[in-house]
This record gives sequence, structure tokens and C-alpha cells, in this order.
Amino acid sequence: MDGQIETSRILIIDDEESILDGCRQALEKSGYSVVTTLDGPEGIRLAREIKPEVAFVDLKMPSCSGMDIIEVLSKDLPEIILIVITGYASIVSAVEAMKKGAYDYLPKPFTPDQIRAVTKRGLEHRFLKVEAARLREEKERMEKNFITFVSHEMRSPLVTIQQYIESIKAVAGNSLSKDVFDIIDRCDKRIQNLEDLVEHWLDLSRIENGTFSEAKAPLDLNEIAQRSIEDLSVLCHRRELKIKADLKGNLPKIMGDQESLMRVFSNIIGNATKYTPPGGTISVSTDFDDYYVYVKISDNGMGIPQDKLPFIFEPFYRVKGKDERHRGSGLGLTFSKKIVDAHGGKIDATSKEGSGTTFVMKFNKL
Ligand SMILES: Nc1ncnc2c1ncn2[C@@H]1O[C@H](COP(=O)(O)OP(=O)(O)OP(=O)(O)O)[C@@H](O)[C@H]1O
Ligand SMILES: [Mg+2]
Repeated sequence: MDGQIETSRILIIDDEESILDGCRQALEKSGYSVVTTLDGPEGIRLAREIKPEVAFVDLKMPSCSGMDIIEVLSKDLPEIILIVITGYASIVSAVEAMKKGAYDYLPKPFTPDQIRAVTKRGLEHRFLKVEAARLREEKERMEKNFITFVSHEMRSPLVTIQQYIESIKAVAGNSLSKDVFDIIDRCDKRIQNLEDLVEHWLDLSRIENGTFSEAKAPLDLNEIAQRSIEDLSVLCHRRELKIKADLKGNLPKIMGDQESLMRVFSNIIGNATKYTPPGGTISVSTDFDDYYVYVKISDNGMGIPQDKLPFIFEPFYRVKGKDERHRGSGLGLTFSKKIVDAHGGKIDATSKEGSGTTFVMKFNKL
């Protein structure tokens, strides 16, 4: 960073020759390259040409308003650090200039040490600003690469492996001993977990990148509830769970993206099937009032301990229990909450350990 300070270019725009001389001497002594001008418009031209790291601008000049220079330069050169030079009585205008994009102010009269200190602070601020922007870009680039990597390099081989496993089961299933078949079956389940994880990752990255489909259209949540229940009914049957629906008639529509909301419903009902022991019941109901449409999904399963409840929407968070029959990535609820948020809705959970869990979603009525 020292190297950067030494070669930094500083522009000074002030209509008093003595101020320009004083600033030049003070700053050149510290190794900065200094350009000065008495004229406002010439100052703007110079700033555009030499792109200085820091520019000092006198607020009160007879030929040109310093405030306007601040406004033009802060829009034109977003990385420039603008510092206003003000008279004693003009703190109010210094504040005004800072609202327009100035970083700091230097009241007249000032000593060489003061101008050097404010310059150093400005340059450090600029360095952090530029660094933050670079890191932001880097993060975006990595996220894009990550999505491409996960979708191309991981998803396809996983799908292929799963297809091979299916083939082994279909072709040789009968001739395999039970032990061997069980091992293959376990591989199949683990691969499915991994595929789910990859899908969740992709969903999350797409939401964060703003590339997730948000083609909103008027939607009937009863229809989405009904379809999700149908999709999961075989699973419920297999896990010996009852699933019942209590869907309110004449439910107002909401604006939403059908595909992503279907995923939210499947996640939450899917959780209910995973975390409710055989013999349990899952209920899905809808309702509305003057402003909102509500969806309630409850189960009478194992529940979530009170002190764990605040964390369930956090990425990768899973409640560790004795029952590890159902593995997961801990991303399902994170994804669901992001989607509900993107719809301007709310999702909340209440639960009692050992008696069950209820998720309520609330959306603005169309
Ligand atoms: N209906 C429920 N009953 C009891 N615990 C639940 C219920 N729903 C969620 N949980 C708890 O919240 C945690 C987070 O849920 P989430 O859906 O995000 O992840 P997951 O189900 O573990 O994995 P996946 O990413 O595959 O969905 C779960 O691990 C579970 O401990
Ligand atoms: Mg889940």
C-alpha cells in the first residue's frame, strides 16, 4: 500500500494561488504527484484526463461552484476521493458536499500536516473501496464458475452412476444375494442424497445470482398444494404416513413462480415425511384473510427442540438426533425461505419436541 500512496496523483482545485502553493509543497514532500489549477472547469477536465486518486476542491470559488464540481466528479469518476476545502463558517456546506459524494473536508486555514493526514486517510479509504469492489467481482465470478462446475462436472456423472445402479438392480437383482443387493441399495440412496444436495446448491446459487426463474404469474396455492400432495403420496404410503388436506374454497390467487413454489411445498412436506415416524399424520391446509393467503403444513412427528428452532433456516443446519435414518444436506429450508422471501412472503415454524412441527407460509393476496 505504501507504493500506491507514493505514486498517487492529487489534484487541487482552488482559486487562491497561495493555497495551491502550500498544498503542493506539503504533498510533494511526501512523494505525491500534485497537479493544481485555479479554474473549476479546467479542474474537471484535468480530473477526467489524469484520473487522480484524490482531488481537493474549494467550495467557494467566484468563477464556478465547488459543489457542482463535486457532483460532476463523483458521478463521473466513482473511485475518486473528493475532499472539500472550506472556510471556517461553512461546515453546513461541507456536510452538503459530503451528501453529494465528498469523502471528507479540510477547514481553512490548515497546516501541512493536516493536509497530509487527510490525504493519507482518503487514500486508505480509496484502497479499501477498490479492494472491496475487486473482491465483490471475484466472488461473483467464483459463484458463476461454481454453478457451471456443479451442474456440468458433478450432476451429470451422478445421474449416470444412478442409472447404472438402476440397471444392475434391474438386470441382476434376482441373482444377487440379499447382502449384496442391500449394499447396492445403500449406494443408490447415498447417490440420491448427493444428487439432492447438488440440486439444492444449484437452486441456492441461482437465487443468489438472480438467475433463478422468477417468471411470476397469478397462482392458485390450493392447486400447488394438491399437486405436491399427489407427488408425495406414494412416499407417504411407503413410510406409513397419512396425509390430509383441508383446502379453503375460493382461495384468492397470489403472484408467484409455480416451479419454485412447488419445490418449497415438496421440501416442507418432504421434511414432514422424513421427520415423522410411521403411523403419523401430515396436514396441509390453506386459508386467507383481507390481506394474505396462508398455507399451513403440520405433522405430529419428532418435532424440533426449542433452542434449535431459530437455526433451521440456516444453510447446512440439521438437528442432530438419534434417528439418522434420513440424511439430508440441511439446505432444503434455506432454499425454501429464500424463495418465499423472493415472493415478498413469510415463513415461520413452531414446534414441540416429541409432538410435531408446523410451518406457516404467508403471501400477499393478489
Ligand atoms: N417437519 C420437521 N420435523 C422435525 N424436524 C424438522 C422438520 N423440518 C425440518 N426439520 C429439522 O430442520 C433441519 C433442516 O431442514 P432442511 O430441510 O433445511 O434440511 P434437511 O431436511 O436436513 O436436508 P435437505 O437439504 O435434504 O432438505 C432438518 O435437518 C431437521 O432437523
Ligand atoms: Mg429437508
